[in-house]
Amino acid sequence: MIQLPASPLELINDPLLSNYPIKLYIKRDDIIHPEITGNKWRKLKFNLIEARASGFNRLMTFGGAFSNHIYATSAAGKEFGFETTGLIRGDELSPQSNIMLTMSKLNGMDLIFLPRLNYGFKDKITRQYKNDFYVIPEGGSNELAVRGVVEMMDEIYSEITPDYVCVASGTGGTLAGIVTGLRGHTEALGFAVLKDKGLLWNAVAKLVPESAEFDISTDYIFGNYGKTTPELIEFIKGFEKRNPTIQLDQVYTGKMMFGVYDLIQKGYFKENSTIVVVHTGGLLGRCKELDTQN
Ligand SMILES: Cc1ncc(COP(=O)(O)O)c(C=O)c1O
Repeated sequence: MIQLPASPLELINDPLLSNYPIKLYIKRDDIIHPEITGNKWRKLKFNLIEARASGFNRLMTFGGAFSNHIYATSAAGKEFGFETTGLIRGDELSPQSNIMLTMSKLNGMDLIFLPRLNYGFKDKITRQYKNDFYVIPEGGSNELAVRGVVEMMDEIYSEITPDYVCVASGTGGTLAGIVTGLRGHTEALGFAVLKDKGLLWNAVAKLVPESAEFDISTDYIFGNYGKTTPELIEFIKGFEKRNPTIQLDQVYTGKMMFGVYDLIQKGYFKENSTIVVVHTGGLLGRCKELDTQN
């Protein structure tokens, strides 16, 4: 059966927040599985079920050099018995280029390095191989991904009814799932990690009902995708010191958490509100500065 356990919802007891009239919870999707973590499991689950139901035993997907999605797909293939192929942007790369690619290869993924991976090309490959492979889009964001994230929202609502649910946003699939799974007065807030807000907005809008409401902040990108600043690194290290059971990465969850803390301190969230931040994983991509002492 293609299933993993539900993740815990934990209250963050951070002394830095004790004077603010909010409650902050974290949905620990980062600890669902040692390798298929965070939103990756949510987005893959119903795609894997669909692949199996349609008789496919081979998965193909796309990604960049440091793709958490590629790594999670390779791990899901190993865990649930699918062969996996990853088409990677960058023909100068190899499985030795970084830990993400090395681990994907070790999980048995067939890695193919390509000079370009634009929309038209991915579309062509998808059509060409659609009878041999179950093809998952880059980032794993499609309608079935949304269904998996809605399941995460149901888990949250089975425990609390938050005022806000916050998440880091790249391709928009996770935010789309959160928006689709909203009930009552809960608001969804995405923290963009890429500069193009219009692109992200449209990607989310394509996957959610027309009347759905959501917000996207582009104030915490820290320059660009994958870029960091000493302020961000210091924030993450400080957060981890005060909350020693939680680690963050500097590409997604660290930027979102920085944004959430900043907005709490600026009084953005309504008084006495309950906020849930979703831990979307990505910890294999932690940079070494986060683990150096000073
Ligand atoms: C760790 C992590 N968090 C958040 C995201 C953003 O999710 P989405 O692409 O669904 O917006 C991603 C991947 O894209 C990710 O790897």
